Amino acid sequence: MTSTPVNVTVTGAAGQIGYALLFRIASGQLLGADVPVRLRLLEIPQAVKAAEGTAMELDDCAFPLLDGVDIFDDATKAFAGTNVALLVGARPRTKGMERGDLLEANGGIFKPQGEAINAGAADDIKVLVVGNPANTNALIAQQHAPDVPAERFTAMTRLDHNRALAQLSKKAGVSVSDIKKMTIWGNHSATQYPDIFHAEIAGKNAAETVNDQSWLENDFIPTVAKRGAAIIEARGASSAASAASAAIDHVHTWVNGTAAGDWTSMAVVSDGSYGVPEGIISSFPVTTSGGKWEIVQGLEIDDFSRARIDASVGELAEEREAVRGLGLI
Ligand code: NAD
Ligand code: LMR
Repeated sequence: MTSTPVNVTVTGAAGQIGYALLFRIASGQLLGADVPVRLRLLEIPQAVKAAEGTAMELDDCAFPLLDGVDIFDDATKAFAGTNVALLVGARPRTKGMERGDLLEANGGIFKPQGEAINAGAADDIKVLVVGNPANTNALIAQQHAPDVPAERFTAMTRLDHNRALAQLSKKAGVSVSDIKKMTIWGNHSATQYPDIFHAEIAGKNAAETVNDQSWLENDFIPTVAKRGAAIIEARGASSAASAASAAIDHVHTWVNGTAAGDWTSMAVVSDGSYGVPEGIISSFPVTTSGGKWEIVQGLEIDDFSRARIDASVGELAEEREAVRGLGLI
């Protein structure tokens, strides 16, 4: 076992996703079965008591890897010395809303958190933004942390990636582990583009294997893109356990690397690849190794895919303008 615990800060620790996430982090699923963790929970003052209750339950699990739990209602203290920050705390949408409708309500949370990360996080800080609208909230935090390399700020599209794997595995009658190279492009919103033209099923092109354009356009893409709304409709609350599971997957893959012959989807700062404007935090196919990510290069993008990537990226550019207008960046 590594002796020094890794400091993991989780915001919104008393919320739904927090409750599904913390026990998995403490059990070693985020970073590995030999990596001790110290949890730092950030909540708003009214929710600190509930976070204390969760901390009591964490104690009661007697996780061998859990070095301790600290609770804060002050961002500067919560992010001091943090190695991994999971920015979950934000309001979820309710029925009838799009995630972008949360921009004004939630955007303000991410400016002070970016500043606090800039002020005191550890040099190797890695940030995952889950709170919606995740891509643009990540951009806000990143813009307020000028001393932290921009590539350390990422937003979560792994839930969309996992949803796409599940839908394709059902259609093709294969296990999710037979599917490689799935890609989510763009925004974690209804405009996202789940792309199976580069995916493979048991080593063969997925789009050709499925060979069903009507399913692709009228079933697969809208089902994946609107799954969050369907969960809210069915559960009366936004996805929580699946979101926590995707957050675990995102960080685990970032830290431990993608498998040979595969990639994942992460929303990362664009370097202009695939015509996505530089600086926007957009989902791409990425490989990871040694704690660093790289955008997969050289994929051919046909007109069908181009139009969908452009639409989602256009929405991200509009969100960037909107938060500029609100004075958040
Ligand atoms: P929730 O309402 O159950 O919990 C949110 C928690 O955040 C609350 O405990 C609240 O007190 C806390 N909070 C609010 N402002 C805070 C701040 N400034 N600092 C620290 N904590 C703060 O919501 P939830 O279901 O856990 O969802 C959280 C967010 O995650 C929502 O915005 C939701 O839309 C988003 N989400 C994203 C994805 C994704 O794939 N990216 C998936 C699911 C949910
Ligand atoms: C999801 O994708 O389930 C979350 O982003 C919650 C939502 O608002 O859809």
